[in-house]
Amino acid sequence: MTRYHPALVVLHWLLALMIIAGLIMGSQVLSETANDDPFKLTALRMHMTMGLVILGLMVIRLVIRLRSAKPPHADIGNGLLNKGAQAAHWVFYLLVFALCASGIAMAKMAGLPDIVFGGSGAPLPESFFEFGPRKAHGTIALVLGLLIAAHVIAGLYHQYGRKDRLFSRMWFGNRTGGE
Ligand code: HEM
Ligand code: HEM
Repeated sequence: MTRYHPALVVLHWLLALMIIAGLIMGSQVLSETANDDPFKLTALRMHMTMGLVILGLMVIRLVIRLRSAKPPHADIGNGLLNKGAQAAHWVFYLLVFALCASGIAMAKMAGLPDIVFGGSGAPLPESFFEFGPRKAHGTIALVLGLLIAAHVIAGLYHQYGRKDRLFSRMWFGNRTGGE
């Protein structure tokens, strides 16, 4: 097996775009908009919808990942680094699930389902930092951002430093050998 399942390839790149967009929009737009700004409801609606779609796609990706044949672990010539890379890939799933769980918990505590999707007209709380999961959500988002940066650097090192054509493993093509 030389490549990941094509469904995993599609979901990897789609989720990468959605998660990076969620991190940028969440930290630069959503949390920078005051809770009494009329745009806040729209921003929350978009962020929460996108977050829930990411959660759903991530569960589907995990199921396919556990059930499909995959290429052997990439070798970087150092046992410890190899094990670290394998662990980091599972940490991705853990962080995304924890991020979504803390977002959902915060939203429930703040009554957001009724306000944002039910049109209840109730005011938003002054700040989401009144709720415990808000701080966790921000911290997990930061850690996830750092892991993505490390993941991209590692991928580029494989591809251009070690020249092992790692990217082709996360792309389409013949999965049983050859090009
Ligand atoms: C933004 C979020 C991202 C997440 C959550 C993520 C997650 C993952 C995970 C979990 C794997 C391991 C395969 C698996 O278990 O399914 C993987 C592999 C890979 N990722 Fe990402 N990734 C992200 C972004 C990126 C970006 C931006 C790049 C490239 C610039 C990239 C390049 C790769 C490559 C080349 C592999 C294949 C590694 C191998 O063959 O072992 N990823 N990614
Ligand atoms: C993978 C999916 C998600 C990503 C990448 C993400 C990312 C972020 C980021 C970066 C922030 C700003 C953090 C800060 O600056 O401290 C944020 C805030 C927030 N997120 Fe998420 N989030 C996700 C899922 C969710 C979900 C599923 C919900 C709720 C259903 C949610 C609700 C919120 C709320 C209510 C805030 C607070 C906004 C404020 O303080 O004004 N998020 N998110």
